Amino acid sequence: MDFLKLNGLACELSPISIGGIDVYKGFLSISDQKLLVEELRKVAVAAPVFSPKTKAGRPMSVRLTAAGNFGWYSDHAGYRYVERHPSGCAWPEIPNLILSIWQALVPDSPKPECCLLNFYGEGARMGLHQDRDEARFEWPVVSISLGDEGLFRVGGLERGGKTASIWLQSGDVAVMGGAARLNYHGIDRIKFGSSTLLKDGGRLNVTLRVVT
Ligand code: SIN
Ligand code: MN
Repeated sequence: MDFLKLNGLACELSPISIGGIDVYKGFLSISDQKLLVEELRKVAVAAPVFSPKTKAGRPMSVRLTAAGNFGWYSDHAGYRYVERHPSGCAWPEIPNLILSIWQALVPDSPKPECCLLNFYGEGARMGLHQDRDEARFEWPVVSISLGDEGLFRVGGLERGGKTASIWLQSGDVAVMGGAARLNYHGIDRIKFGSSTLLKDGGRLNVTLRVVT
């Protein structure tokens, strides 16, 4: 069994706060990141990535898949968690290495039920949104960045308010919890090719969520 070294623990867990969201820069060492990519590849083989459609019917530029009891899906009927991949199969289990990051950062929260994988190829972005498809908002969302840098924008609880931005790099981990749990956030753009972690470039973001 492989273990992560979790650099961030060695630097005594001092996050940067960006709009109330805690960003742990360099939390994962390169060897941690490589181990995670191997595990996440297995998830994507069992549950291939797909492009969900927005409510307006446009395909999202981000491709996604999931592990855990729930994945996330969207179409004209709206945004929701679903118990099966579009192929009809159950989602694969959340890799233990991923669970160990949740355990290290938010040990008092129940186990995550969804590990959502967002893949950003060249030109992909994610508009400002709130994570509010979960039944309750008392548990944090933990977000792991791998591969190319992504410009993360964080606002407040209202659309259209002041925002702040930070480049998330491979190995950074963010925790959206407490008063910032429902803050608007999104990825304006990625720097395609800025990391060599993923063979064909791009950015992989993993978010862990308690759904029910
Ligand atoms: C998300 O909000 O689901 C993804 C955020 C990110 O890609 O960093
Ligand atoms: Mn989100």
